[in-house]
Amino acid sequence: MPATLFSDRLAETARSVEACLDGLLAANPAPGEIARPARLREAMRYALLGGGKRLRPALTREVARLFGRGDEGVTRAGAAIECLHGYSLVHDDLPAMDDDDLRRGRPTVHKAFDEATAILAGDALQTLAFDILADPATDADATIRAELVLGLARASGLGGMAGGQMLDLEAERAAPGEDGILVLQAMKTGALIRFSCEAGAILGGADAEARARIRRYGEIVGLAFQLADDLLDVTATPEAMGKATAKDAGRGKATLVSLYGIAATRARLDALVAEAEALLAPFGPAAATLADAARFVALRQS
Ligand code: IPE
Ligand code: IPE
Ligand code: MG
Ligand code: MG
Ligand code: MG
Repeated sequence: MPATLFSDRLAETARSVEACLDGLLAANPAPGEIARPARLREAMRYALLGGGKRLRPALTREVARLFGRGDEGVTRAGAAIECLHGYSLVHDDLPAMDDDDLRRGRPTVHKAFDEATAILAGDALQTLAFDILADPATDADATIRAELVLGLARASGLGGMAGGQMLDLEAERAAPGEDGILVLQAMKTGALIRFSCEAGAILGGADAEARARIRRYGEIVGLAFQLADDLLDVTATPEAMGKATAKDAGRGKATLVSLYGIAATRARLDALVAEAEALLAPFGPAAATLADAARFVALRQS
């Protein structure tokens, strides 16, 4: 049977994750909640349900599949990661941060609603992510749920995404060198992508050796992802990206593309794909779609 292309998996993931998010953001309060204010719920739905590649949940699903798991719990874990990612984008676009007006081809949340609502929508998306992971519907085993919660917290907080965003803002004032940029990127984007992969291994009950290999694969994909994001900021159009481009240079932000140049960045991306393929080799043909995922991330055009 030929390996399924990762782009097909993205389409399939988008359908299942969006159906899951739609249910989680229904009007009725969940047990323990008091009420769900309509405006905040609308802003959260706007942030989450208006497009997006669904790359992270697709990675979770593909890794879980490698270890023989493909139930609704995997989709829920992917939806949780998408909530965390959505929150990071809403806050990233705020005037105090990147001050962007366009996201996923539409006005950013603070433009479509207002700044205070965007801040609150981000806050509530973040807690929703942990709510989903802690819910027994994601996995009957409390140890697995706790591992997922801890993993997502470590990937997204002080020593992960939020910390990386801090370094990213500081980089507008004082350009870091190559090593500094690599740390910044591993934190602001890489950590969540790595966790997206690792979550699939946790849910699939992978052994320690396989899990470490998947973590390393996730790191490589995360690095390739941000390298491609920075490359596309220079080479792509806002129409293709659904967000403004030429922003990094405009803000005087040092990226690896500004250090390496375009051709060397492309060569580096090819090398990362080869590294991802080598890491997956011990899993055999079952990992072919994950190898395609690395190619997709590195060579993507949006
Ligand atoms: C964009 O992430 C933001 C970064 C982390 C660089 P994606 O490119 O995954 O955004 P969506 O979810 O597809 O819109
Ligand atoms: C955003 O990085 C990273 C996070 C949201 C954590 P960027 O600022 O480069 O993302 P875009 O280019 O606005 O999507
Ligand atoms: Mg930013
Ligand atoms: Mg930004
Ligand atoms: Mg960017």
